[in-house]
Amino acid sequence: MAVLVLGGAGYIGSHMVDRLVNTTDEKVVVVDSLVTGHRAAVNPAAKFYQGDIADQDFMRTVFKENPDVDAVIHFAAYSLVAESMKKPLKYFDNNTAGMVKLLEVMNEVGVKNIVFSSTAATYGIPEKMPIRETDPQKPINPYGESKLMMEKIMHWSDLAYGIKFVALRYFNVAGAKPDGSIGEDHNPETHLLPIVLQVAQGKRDVLKIFGNDYNTPDGTNVRDYVHPYDLADAHILAVKYLREGNESTAFNLGSSTGFSNLQILEAARRVTGKEIPAEMAPRRPGDPDTLIAASDKARNVLGWKPQFDNIDKIIASAWAWHSSHPEGYGDRK
Ligand code: UFG
Repeated sequence: MAVLVLGGAGYIGSHMVDRLVNTTDEKVVVVDSLVTGHRAAVNPAAKFYQGDIADQDFMRTVFKENPDVDAVIHFAAYSLVAESMKKPLKYFDNNTAGMVKLLEVMNEVGVKNIVFSSTAATYGIPEKMPIRETDPQKPINPYGESKLMMEKIMHWSDLAYGIKFVALRYFNVAGAKPDGSIGEDHNPETHLLPIVLQVAQGKRDVLKIFGNDYNTPDGTNVRDYVHPYDLADAHILAVKYLREGNESTAFNLGSSTGFSNLQILEAARRVTGKEIPAEMAPRRPGDPDTLIAASDKARNVLGWKPQFDNIDKIIASAWAWHSSHPEGYGDRK
């Protein structure tokens, strides 16, 4: 059997491909447009195609040339919240309309299993903590809305065409392959941990902490961090779950432990041994106080056991990547 990974040259997708190659017997086929992904991030044991998932003729060729593919893992989406506020149509086109095009071809070729990256951003401002899968989904930005629409499109496609799905709602993804050979390389970088580590490297002068007047113990936002290898393992379990004939559903993926932005800074100082200058800055619009996952459903139903269960381990893995790749993959477009 073979798995098709869409967006397999991206940050999380490349860890997925690496994990599939190193821990399973699956044949791994990768599609990536390389608009934001990096060719060098893709494990060479995977079969690679460059192209857009919305190009149906291209996708028909990929499925035709790989008739053993029976499951798709879909990471190919834009994921910057702030950008989505300025360019919502880019998100509804690439993410949401892209899913429609993909499902049409999957239905045509008879591939009936898909595991898909959803997000905590589909919950918007949560009413209670930790967040459960059954809690209301009321996104507050087009990125979250585009992903919620994708979940709904999959629901109706399941009823009509029998395409089964697992939506995995990630919380804050951080960390890299522990040997430092693949990691996070975004341009522009907006996420907390890579920015903290760029300050540690001297690539930025100072960390700006966006807001210290939130309703949290130290006033800074609290987030739930999860490692891309642990996410990848959840996807492998989700593919197994679908192949066993189980019903379509959604799972939260987080550690169920929250860390404030200040705690992340302290941990990064501890792990790197660097000073990491920081200063307080105004709130960034759209940041909820706290986001923590209830992840017992993934643990109980899928048997998911995250390995990176402490924040120092996650930060040390990210530092291994950043300190050995100061220019990322060195292929800046
Ligand atoms: N932050 C700073 N300074 C920075 C960058 C970030 O203080 O320079 C803060 C943010 O304000 C926030 C925290 O660090 O409080 C985490 O911010 P990130 O941008 O790293 O992550 P988000 O929580 O905003 O976003 C993540 C995912 C999104 C997803 C969202 C769910 O990256 O894809 O969780 O709400 F949509």
